[in-house]
Amino acid sequence: AKIHDQTLLRGDGGELHQTRAGDVAVLTTAQGAPVADDQNTLRVGAPGPSLIEDFHFREKIFHFDHERIPERVVHARGYGAHGYFETYESLADVTRADIFQRAGEKTPAFVRFSTVAGSEGSADLARDVRGFAVKLYTREGNWDIVGNNIPVFFIQDAIKFPDVIHSVKPEPDRGFPQAQSAHDNFWDFISLTPESMHMIMWVMSDRAIPRSFRFMEGFGVHTFRFLDARDESTFVKFLWKPKLGLQSVVWNEAVKINGADPDFHRRDLWNAIQSGNFPEWELCVQLFDQDFADSFDFDVLDPTKLIPEEIIKPRPVGRLVLDRMPDNFFAETEQVAFMTQNVPPGIDFSNDPLLQGRNFSYLDTQLKRLGSPNFTHIPINAPKCPFAHFQQDGHMAMRNPVGRTNYQPNSHGEGPREDPVRGTRSFREPIDAPKARLRPESFADHYSQARQFFLSQTVTEQKHIAMALTFELSKCENPVIRERMVAHLLNIDEALGAAVADKLGIEKLPKPADAAVPPRGDLPASPALSI
Ligand code: HEM
Repeated sequence: AKIHDQTLLRGDGGELHQTRAGDVAVLTTAQGAPVADDQNTLRVGAPGPSLIEDFHFREKIFHFDHERIPERVVHARGYGAHGYFETYESLADVTRADIFQRAGEKTPAFVRFSTVAGSEGSADLARDVRGFAVKLYTREGNWDIVGNNIPVFFIQDAIKFPDVIHSVKPEPDRGFPQAQSAHDNFWDFISLTPESMHMIMWVMSDRAIPRSFRFMEGFGVHTFRFLDARDESTFVKFLWKPKLGLQSVVWNEAVKINGADPDFHRRDLWNAIQSGNFPEWELCVQLFDQDFADSFDFDVLDPTKLIPEEIIKPRPVGRLVLDRMPDNFFAETEQVAFMTQNVPPGIDFSNDPLLQGRNFSYLDTQLKRLGSPNFTHIPINAPKCPFAHFQQDGHMAMRNPVGRTNYQPNSHGEGPREDPVRGTRSFREPIDAPKARLRPESFADHYSQARQFFLSQTVTEQKHIAMALTFELSKCENPVIRERMVAHLLNIDEALGAAVADKLGIEKLPKPADAAVPPRGDLPASPALSI
């Protein structure tokens, strides 16, 4: 067998060099030296002592010792797949994004689904939000839609993210509970954070225990901007709709599945794709202008609010098909680095304070997690379009600038140049406002959409929410936290608050929580709920 024809390490997403038919690859060191004996260390006599001279042994153990990288600080447990996105029709009237210019265009994609709170080894069926992160390798750079299976979020400002995540993760003194929200710290934080109430309704609903990744919706959550060729802006929200529809399990099933097969969601995606049942989602957009934003009951920049689909019908603009599992879990699924800041020309950010903070956090955390500013050199993260820049050096630099010139402007006529026509431009939004730590009045109504969501559920689904709240809050040791939560629930729906209070053994209903803006009373109250 010839060493030079050996299989390259797989999982690089690039060309796979196969061993020539019939050849058996020779085991080598990482430096390429053929290995004669991989079973015994080099020793003096038998059994030893072992010799430090044994470079094969030292290299092998050294590399093993350094196999682990930090797990993601959130969304540590995830599972990914490759596929493609196919554009249905040109959206050139609203965006210059290249991916939306030509009907039928196919763009390579990589998707990672995840749970938020649990560690990498936690069970799949935890009651939790699911991450739905999509990387689209467009012809004008990578576009990451780093979304969830729930259309809203816990907090309105990124500065609260460490707090909400600390509260949901294991308590620092005892190191438990793992991967579930049923504990005092979480409910303490939530009950002191009324802006989380809408999200809590979704997290207590069946959405948080999906039967499979294939039966989940995905949401970009924030309002973004499309920019057309003249840099005119249209607001846009992104929604993924599963072709298979939505399905969840019930809590008793979730608990059993977690015990019997903690890899249930992984196995489901693997089996579906390996057997040719490629899961598919439609990408839908909700498009609207500033006039709509001004007339809407809620602030479109508030990530705890959604735009009801009855008010703006989601418009399908393409489909996502997942048809190939990674060659290597670590190289691709673990090393993939999603970042909200990754947008191609024609897609821009809004002033949502959660989105603005995320744009810093993802880049920052990838440096810690992947260890080098050159993480874009890892094949799963590299663009698949031509790219050229003067970034150089650093740990693991694979793609330094070629030739003499590594700066610009330069008079050598070498290297890439800016292109004001093709390049990314931001929406030129005039802003005349004081610099201060302000939260807009328009972010103050925390209950109305929570109520709308609760009332949109069937009675069975409403009961599931009430049972989930009862189960979760019954794990709270502190009765003050339980009562505080019931006080919020009474603002969302009286019957819900009363049913949960009853099951928790709270004899006297607390006063409804003080609300900055009273919940809108124009929806019918639900009848008494028995659970
Ligand atoms: C990871 C979604 C808010 C920081 C993730 C992932 C998803 C996600 C899907 C997993 C990515 C993957 O599969 O690799 C969301 C959504 C949010 C949100 C939908 C709100 C709408 C935030 C905020 C911050 C944040 C406010 C910080 C200010 C992070 C970090 C990671 C992460 C640090 C780990 C990234 C990594 O190590 O690869 N988020 N997130 N997220 N998110 Fe968020």
